[in-house]
Amino acid sequence: MAIPKAELHLHIEGTLEPELAFELAERNGIELPFDSVEELRRAYSFTDLQSFLDLYYALMSVLRTEQDFADLAAAYLERAAAQGVRHAEIFFDPQAHTSRGVAIGTVVTGLARALEDAERSLGISSRLILCFLRDRPAEEAMETLESARPHLHAITGVGLDSAEIGNPPEKFREVFAAARAAGLRRVAHAGEEGPADYVRQALDVLGAERIDHGVRCLEDPELVERLRREAVPLTVCPFSNVRLRVVERLEEHPLPKLIGAGLVVTVNSDDPAYFGGYVEDNLDGVRRALDLDPETVRELARNSFRAAFLDEERRAELI
Ligand code: ADE
Ligand code: ZN
Repeated sequence: MAIPKAELHLHIEGTLEPELAFELAERNGIELPFDSVEELRRAYSFTDLQSFLDLYYALMSVLRTEQDFADLAAAYLERAAAQGVRHAEIFFDPQAHTSRGVAIGTVVTGLARALEDAERSLGISSRLILCFLRDRPAEEAMETLESARPHLHAITGVGLDSAEIGNPPEKFREVFAAARAAGLRRVAHAGEEGPADYVRQALDVLGAERIDHGVRCLEDPELVERLRREAVPLTVCPFSNVRLRVVERLEEHPLPKLIGAGLVVTVNSDDPAYFGGYVEDNLDGVRRALDLDPETVRELARNSFRAAFLDEERRAELI
């Protein structure tokens, strides 16, 4: 039995398995530039974040209707439940859909319907986190937040993702301030491929409450000390880091260093359909590769509940 846990770093578009991609392509009359599921899977070989993002955005063309988004999220939640996930905080990238003519309401309504269904049928609680694409203009992020206003009852927070280098958190100061004023929680990808200073900016400029990835904080001991003192959670994604060549091998992953520095570390799957495994696979992978003892694994799982945007009653029930 998989250990009960929360998943806090998961892009719903990154759960699109090749089989579902082909099914949705057929349903929507879309021609994919791959002949088969096997050929598509063979394309999942990446040299860096951008090489992954190119395929990730291209495959999203199969997602068109509210039902497509509901089916995508339902498939993820079923797999997550089987991997011990009791609570999931799910990122979505509205600009990757609105830029193709899919309305934000179609995306949010479809996802929210599947989340509600899974709460009833699987007992998984969940949240939606709207991510801004950092390689798009800041004005577009603000327009995205404005267009999300009618749907904020279904959205817990905002995040920042996509190509990191050259797109510092500073660029999104205003939109994060507006999100905060609207009562939204804040997270940001930082220190994945980008420098440790982006982690500092995410905290100081965006008011980020968690850092997604954050592994490069280790290059700055003062920052590590601050993350420890302020107990800022890191949502670390080991399989992703290996597949996107942030680290060379799982055996060399800095997870033990982050834990050893006293940080609130969690283990997550990022884009499990692309990176070779869901959250329990990641946890089991690092347990074996890094020889983690059972208490450390239990602490990682407890951290996932501590770092979640949960009300205290549900947190106490889960921890
Ligand atoms: N979008 C989906 N996965 C991502 C990642 N690992 N980093 C940045 N943006 C992403
Ligand atoms: Zn991510």
